[in-house]
Amino acid sequence: MPLDLTQLYQRVSRVIPPVEWALFSPDIEAINRLKRERNAVILAHNYQTPEIFHGVADIVGDSLLLAREAMNVDADVIVLAGVHFMAETAKLLNPTKTVLIPDTRAGCSLADSITADDIKLLRQRHPGVPVVAYVNTSAAVKAESDICCTSGNAKKIVESLGVPEVIMLPDEYLAQNIAAQTNVKIITWAGHCEVHERFNPQEIADLRAAHPGITVLAHPECPPEVVAVSDFAGSTAAMSDYVAREKPARVVLITECSMSDNVAIGHPGTEFIRPCNLCPHMKRITLPNIRACLETMQTQVEIEPALMERARQSVERMLAVK
Ligand code: 13P
Ligand code: SF4
Repeated sequence: MPLDLTQLYQRVSRVIPPVEWALFSPDIEAINRLKRERNAVILAHNYQTPEIFHGVADIVGDSLLLAREAMNVDADVIVLAGVHFMAETAKLLNPTKTVLIPDTRAGCSLADSITADDIKLLRQRHPGVPVVAYVNTSAAVKAESDICCTSGNAKKIVESLGVPEVIMLPDEYLAQNIAAQTNVKIITWAGHCEVHERFNPQEIADLRAAHPGITVLAHPECPPEVVAVSDFAGSTAAMSDYVAREKPARVVLITECSMSDNVAIGHPGTEFIRPCNLCPHMKRITLPNIRACLETMQTQVEIEPALMERARQSVERMLAVK
Protein backbone atom coordinates (compact mmCIF):
# COMPACT_ATOMS: atom_id res chain seq x y z
CA MET A 1 0.00 0.00 0.00
CA PRO A 2 1.46 3.43 -0.89
CA LEU A 3 2.43 5.61 2.04
CA ASP A 4 -0.16 8.30 2.81
CA LEU A 5 2.06 11.20 3.94
CA THR A 6 -0.92 13.50 4.54
CA GLN A 7 -2.52 11.04 6.92
CA LEU A 8 0.84 10.48 8.63
CA TYR A 9 1.32 14.21 9.06
CA GLN A 10 -2.10 14.59 10.68
CA ARG A 11 -0.87 12.24 13.40
CA VAL A 12 2.32 14.14 14.19
CA SER A 13 1.25 17.70 13.41
CA ARG A 14 1.07 18.64 17.14
CA VAL A 15 4.82 18.15 17.53
CA ILE A 16 6.28 18.66 14.03
CA PRO A 17 5.73 22.06 12.31
CA PRO A 18 4.75 21.98 8.58
CA VAL A 19 8.06 23.50 7.50
CA GLU A 20 10.02 20.68 9.17
CA TRP A 21 7.66 18.05 7.80
CA ALA A 22 8.37 19.30 4.27
CA LEU A 23 12.07 18.64 4.90
CA PHE A 24 11.45 15.18 6.40
CA SER A 25 8.97 13.91 3.78
CA PRO A 26 11.42 12.88 1.00
CA ASP A 27 13.47 10.79 3.44
CA ILE A 28 10.37 9.25 4.99
CA GLU A 29 9.10 8.22 1.56
CA ALA A 30 12.50 6.86 0.50
CA ILE A 31 13.00 4.91 3.75
CA ASN A 32 9.58 3.28 3.53
CA ARG A 33 10.34 2.25 -0.07
CA LEU A 34 13.79 0.93 0.87
CA LYS A 35 12.31 -1.11 3.71
CA ARG A 36 10.14 -2.98 1.19
CA GLU A 37 13.02 -3.44 -1.27
CA ARG A 38 15.43 -4.74 1.40
CA ASN A 39 12.83 -6.68 3.41
CA ALA A 40 13.88 -4.62 6.40
CA VAL A 41 12.24 -3.53 9.64
CA ILE A 42 13.13 -0.55 11.78
CA LEU A 43 13.19 -0.97 15.55
CA ALA A 44 13.19 2.42 17.28
CA HIS A 45 13.71 3.31 20.92
CA ASN A 46 11.31 5.65 22.72
CA TYR A 47 14.02 8.38 22.68
CA GLN A 48 14.08 8.66 18.89
CA THR A 49 12.71 11.87 17.42
CA PRO A 50 9.03 11.87 16.32
CA GLU A 51 9.77 11.85 12.57
CA ILE A 52 11.65 8.55 13.11
CA PHE A 53 9.39 7.16 15.82
CA HIS A 54 6.13 7.88 13.99
CA GLY A 55 7.39 8.27 10.41
CA VAL A 56 9.47 5.18 9.65
CA ALA A 57 9.66 2.82 12.66
CA ASP A 58 7.88 -0.55 12.54
CA ILE A 59 8.42 -1.46 16.19
CA VAL A 60 8.88 1.09 18.97
CA GLY A 61 9.42 0.67 22.68
CA ASP A 62 11.77 0.45 25.63
CA SER A 63 14.94 -1.65 25.71
CA LEU A 64 13.06 -4.71 26.96
CA LEU A 65 10.43 -4.60 24.23
CA LEU A 66 13.06 -4.01 21.53
CA ALA A 67 15.03 -7.05 22.76
CA ARG A 68 11.89 -9.22 22.89
CA GLU A 69 10.67 -8.08 19.48
CA ALA A 70 14.10 -8.52 17.92
CA MET A 71 13.65 -12.25 18.56
CA ASN A 72 10.41 -12.37 16.56
CA VAL A 73 11.49 -10.38 13.52
CA ASP A 74 10.71 -12.10 10.24
CA ALA A 75 12.55 -9.69 7.93
CA ASP A 76 16.09 -10.23 6.58
CA VAL A 77 17.36 -6.88 7.81
CA ILE A 78 16.94 -5.06 11.13
CA VAL A 79 17.77 -1.36 11.38
CA LEU A 80 18.23 -0.33 14.98
CA ALA A 81 17.26 3.29 15.48
CA GLY A 82 18.79 3.59 18.91
CA VAL A 83 22.21 3.22 20.48
CA HIS A 84 24.92 0.66 19.82
CA PHE A 85 24.20 -1.71 22.72
CA MET A 86 20.62 -2.05 21.44
CA ALA A 87 21.88 -3.01 17.99
CA GLU A 88 24.28 -5.52 19.55
CA THR A 89 21.43 -7.06 21.54
CA ALA A 90 19.38 -7.40 18.35
CA LYS A 91 22.35 -9.09 16.64
CA LEU A 92 22.91 -11.46 19.58
CA LEU A 93 19.32 -12.61 19.25
CA ASN A 94 19.44 -12.74 15.43
CA PRO A 95 22.94 -13.91 14.51
CA THR A 96 21.95 -14.87 10.95
CA LYS A 97 20.22 -11.59 10.11
CA THR A 98 21.79 -8.37 8.94
CA VAL A 99 21.59 -5.80 11.74
CA LEU A 100 22.36 -2.22 10.73
CA ILE A 101 23.12 0.79 12.91
CA PRO A 102 22.85 4.15 11.11
CA ASP A 103 25.71 5.73 13.13
CA THR A 104 28.25 3.58 14.97
CA ARG A 105 29.12 6.51 17.24
CA ALA A 106 25.73 6.21 18.99
CA GLY A 107 27.16 5.00 22.30
CA CYS A 108 26.03 5.24 25.91
CA SER A 109 27.78 6.60 29.00
CA LEU A 110 26.65 3.56 30.99
CA ALA A 111 27.98 1.05 28.45
CA ASP A 112 31.26 2.99 28.40
CA SER A 113 31.61 2.90 32.19
CA ILE A 114 32.58 -0.76 32.56
CA THR A 115 34.71 -3.40 30.85
CA ALA A 116 34.83 -7.18 30.92
CA ASP A 117 38.05 -6.96 33.01
CA ASP A 118 36.22 -4.87 35.62
CA ILE A 119 33.74 -7.73 36.02
CA LYS A 120 36.53 -10.26 36.46
CA LEU A 121 37.93 -8.09 39.29
CA LEU A 122 34.48 -7.73 40.88
CA ARG A 123 34.06 -11.50 40.83
CA GLN A 124 37.42 -11.91 42.61
CA ARG A 125 36.35 -9.39 45.22
CA HIS A 126 32.90 -11.00 45.71
CA PRO A 127 33.34 -14.72 45.03
CA GLY A 128 30.14 -16.61 44.17
CA VAL A 129 27.97 -13.48 43.93
CA PRO A 130 26.02 -13.45 40.64
CA VAL A 131 26.44 -10.53 38.23
CA VAL A 132 23.32 -8.85 36.84
CA ALA A 133 24.26 -6.62 33.88
CA TYR A 134 21.99 -3.86 32.66
CA VAL A 135 21.42 -4.26 28.90
CA ASN A 136 23.16 -0.89 28.55
CA THR A 137 26.49 -2.75 28.31
CA SER A 138 28.75 -4.08 25.56
CA ALA A 139 28.53 -7.68 24.36
CA ALA A 140 31.90 -8.29 26.07
CA VAL A 141 30.42 -7.25 29.44
CA LYS A 142 27.26 -9.30 28.84
CA ALA A 143 29.49 -12.31 28.11
CA GLU A 144 31.12 -12.00 31.56
CA SER A 145 27.76 -11.61 33.33
CA ASP A 146 25.24 -14.17 34.57
CA ILE A 147 22.06 -12.48 33.42
CA CYS A 148 20.93 -9.17 31.94
CA CYS A 149 18.17 -6.84 33.09
CA THR A 150 16.53 -3.66 31.85
CA SER A 151 14.93 -0.87 33.82
CA GLY A 152 11.60 -2.57 33.07
CA ASN A 153 12.40 -5.88 34.78
CA ALA A 154 15.38 -5.23 37.10
CA LYS A 155 13.62 -6.06 40.39
CA LYS A 156 12.13 -9.25 38.96
CA ILE A 157 15.50 -10.37 37.57
CA VAL A 158 17.37 -9.67 40.83
CA GLU A 159 14.76 -11.62 42.83
CA SER A 160 14.56 -14.45 40.28
CA LEU A 161 18.08 -15.55 41.22
CA GLY A 162 16.98 -16.62 44.72
CA VAL A 163 20.19 -15.40 46.38
CA PRO A 164 20.72 -12.94 49.26
CA GLU A 165 23.21 -10.77 47.35
CA VAL A 166 23.88 -9.75 43.74
CA ILE A 167 26.27 -7.47 41.89
CA MET A 168 24.24 -5.13 39.69
CA LEU A 169 26.09 -3.00 37.17
CA PRO A 170 26.92 -0.55 35.76
CA ASP A 171 24.18 1.92 36.76
CA GLU A 172 24.67 2.90 40.39
CA TYR A 173 21.40 4.82 40.58
CA LEU A 174 19.27 2.10 39.00
CA ALA A 175 20.87 -0.39 41.42
CA GLN A 176 20.16 1.89 44.41
CA ASN A 177 16.58 2.47 43.25
CA ILE A 178 16.04 -1.29 42.96
CA ALA A 179 17.76 -1.93 46.31
CA ALA A 180 15.12 0.29 47.92
CA GLN A 181 12.41 -2.11 46.68
CA THR A 182 13.88 -5.51 47.57
CA ASN A 183 15.46 -7.47 50.41
CA VAL A 184 18.26 -8.67 48.12
CA LYS A 185 21.52 -6.90 48.99
CA ILE A 186 22.88 -5.13 45.92
CA ILE A 187 26.55 -4.41 45.26
CA THR A 188 26.77 -1.43 42.89
CA TRP A 189 29.17 0.02 40.30
CA ALA A 190 29.75 3.75 39.86
CA GLY A 191 28.38 4.12 36.31
CA HIS A 192 25.83 6.82 35.52
CA CYS A 193 23.63 7.85 32.62
CA GLU A 194 24.85 11.27 31.52
CA VAL A 195 21.26 12.28 30.72
CA HIS A 196 19.50 11.23 33.93
CA GLU A 197 22.26 12.07 36.43
CA ARG A 198 21.75 15.77 35.64
CA PHE A 199 18.25 15.95 37.18
CA ASN A 200 18.05 17.06 40.80
CA PRO A 201 15.37 17.32 43.53
CA GLN A 202 15.36 21.15 43.44
CA GLU A 203 14.28 21.02 39.79
CA ILE A 204 11.32 18.83 40.76
CA ALA A 205 10.40 21.17 43.63
CA ASP A 206 10.53 24.15 41.24
CA LEU A 207 8.32 22.30 38.74
CA ARG A 208 5.75 21.49 41.40
CA ALA A 209 5.70 25.13 42.53
CA ALA A 210 5.34 26.45 38.97
CA HIS A 211 2.75 23.85 37.87
CA PRO A 212 0.50 22.94 40.82
CA GLY A 213 -0.96 19.44 40.59
CA ILE A 214 1.61 18.21 38.10
CA THR A 215 2.37 14.48 38.00
CA VAL A 216 6.10 13.76 37.99
CA LEU A 217 7.29 10.54 36.32
CA ALA A 218 11.01 9.70 36.50
CA HIS A 219 13.24 7.12 34.87
CA PRO A 220 15.02 4.89 37.44
CA GLU A 221 18.40 5.94 36.00
CA CYS A 222 17.79 9.21 37.89
CA PRO A 223 19.48 9.65 41.28
CA PRO A 224 17.45 8.14 44.18
CA GLU A 225 16.84 11.66 45.59
CA VAL A 226 15.01 12.52 42.36
CA VAL A 227 13.00 9.28 42.36
CA ALA A 228 12.08 9.96 46.01
CA VAL A 229 10.34 13.24 45.12
CA SER A 230 8.63 11.85 42.00
CA ASP A 231 5.15 10.31 41.84
CA PHE A 232 6.27 7.25 39.88
CA ALA A 233 9.48 5.75 38.55
CA GLY A 234 9.65 3.30 35.69
CA SER A 235 11.17 2.40 32.35
CA THR A 236 10.33 4.48 29.30
CA ALA A 237 7.51 2.02 28.49
CA ALA A 238 6.23 2.14 32.08
CA MET A 239 6.10 5.95 31.95
CA SER A 240 4.20 5.83 28.67
CA ASP A 241 1.77 3.22 30.09
CA TYR A 242 1.26 5.37 33.19
CA VAL A 243 0.13 8.32 31.05
CA ALA A 244 -2.22 6.07 29.05
CA ARG A 245 -3.69 4.50 32.19
CA GLU A 246 -3.92 7.45 34.60
CA LYS A 247 -4.52 10.22 32.03
CA PRO A 248 -2.96 12.95 34.23
CA ALA A 249 -4.08 16.48 33.37
CA ARG A 250 -0.46 17.69 33.51
CA VAL A 251 2.67 15.62 33.49
CA VAL A 252 6.43 15.94 33.31
CA LEU A 253 8.64 13.06 32.19
CA ILE A 254 12.01 13.29 33.95
CA THR A 255 13.97 11.74 31.12
CA GLU A 256 15.19 12.28 27.56
CA CYS A 257 13.46 15.01 25.53
CA SER A 258 11.91 13.03 22.65
CA MET A 259 9.93 10.86 25.05
CA SER A 260 7.41 13.65 25.75
CA ASP A 261 6.93 14.39 22.05
CA ASN A 262 6.30 10.74 21.25
CA VAL A 263 3.90 10.14 24.11
CA ALA A 264 2.11 13.50 23.70
CA ILE A 265 1.01 12.57 20.17
CA GLY A 266 -1.27 9.84 21.50
CA HIS A 267 -2.58 11.83 24.49
CA PRO A 268 -4.00 15.20 23.43
CA GLY A 269 -5.87 15.51 26.76
CA THR A 270 -2.64 15.64 28.79
CA GLU A 271 -0.48 18.76 29.05
CA PHE A 272 3.23 17.90 28.90
CA ILE A 273 5.62 20.24 30.72
CA ARG A 274 8.97 19.77 29.07
CA PRO A 275 12.16 20.35 30.96
CA CYS A 276 14.27 17.45 29.72
CA ASN A 277 17.81 16.48 28.83
CA LEU A 278 18.94 15.40 25.37
CA CYS A 279 20.84 12.13 24.88
CA PRO A 280 23.55 13.06 22.36
CA HIS A 281 23.99 9.40 21.43
CA MET A 282 20.33 8.76 20.62
CA LYS A 283 20.32 12.00 18.65
CA ARG A 284 23.04 10.72 16.31
CA ILE A 285 20.34 8.72 14.55
CA THR A 286 18.60 10.78 11.88
CA LEU A 287 16.34 10.20 8.87
CA PRO A 288 19.23 10.86 6.42
CA ASN A 289 21.51 8.30 8.08
CA ILE A 290 18.71 5.71 8.33
CA ARG A 291 18.12 6.23 4.61
CA ALA A 292 21.85 5.97 3.86
CA CYS A 293 22.25 2.78 5.87
CA LEU A 294 19.44 1.11 3.93
CA GLU A 295 20.91 2.29 0.63
CA THR A 296 24.45 1.11 1.39
CA MET A 297 23.60 -1.70 3.86
CA GLN A 298 26.21 -0.22 6.20
CA THR A 299 27.14 -0.31 9.03
CA GLN A 300 26.51 -3.94 9.85
CA VAL A 301 26.81 -4.88 13.52
CA GLU A 302 29.19 -7.78 14.10
CA ILE A 303 30.01 -9.48 17.37
CA GLU A 304 33.22 -11.39 18.05
CA PRO A 305 32.40 -15.09 17.68
CA ALA A 306 34.15 -15.86 20.97
CA LEU A 307 31.68 -13.59 22.83
CA MET A 308 28.53 -14.44 20.94
CA GLU A 309 27.31 -17.51 22.79
CA ARG A 310 27.97 -16.29 26.34
CA ALA A 311 26.61 -12.80 25.70
CA ARG A 312 23.47 -14.24 24.12
CA GLN A 313 22.95 -16.53 27.12
CA SER A 314 22.85 -13.54 29.48
CA VAL A 315 20.16 -11.88 27.36
CA GLU A 316 18.21 -15.12 26.85
CA ARG A 317 18.24 -15.89 30.59
CA MET A 318 16.69 -12.48 31.16
CA LEU A 319 14.02 -13.05 28.51
CA ALA A 320 13.17 -16.46 30.02
CA VAL A 321 12.25 -14.90 33.40
CA LYS A 322 8.44 -14.57 33.41
P1 13P B 1 14.46 1.96 28.82
O1 13P B 1 14.84 0.51 28.91
O2 13P B 1 13.61 2.40 29.97
O3 13P B 1 13.83 2.25 27.51
O4 13P B 1 15.77 2.83 28.97
C1 13P B 1 16.83 2.76 28.08
C2 13P B 1 17.73 3.90 28.21
O5 13P B 1 18.75 4.00 27.60
C3 13P B 1 17.31 4.91 29.17
O6 13P B 1 18.24 5.88 29.27
FE1 SF4 C 1 22.78 5.74 27.62
FE2 SF4 C 1 21.59 7.58 29.10
FE3 SF4 C 1 21.61 7.87 26.47
FE4 SF4 C 1 20.10 5.95 27.63
S1 SF4 C 1 19.85 8.15 27.82
S2 SF4 C 1 21.42 5.71 25.84
S3 SF4 C 1 21.40 5.37 29.34
S4 SF4 C 1 23.41 7.89 27.82
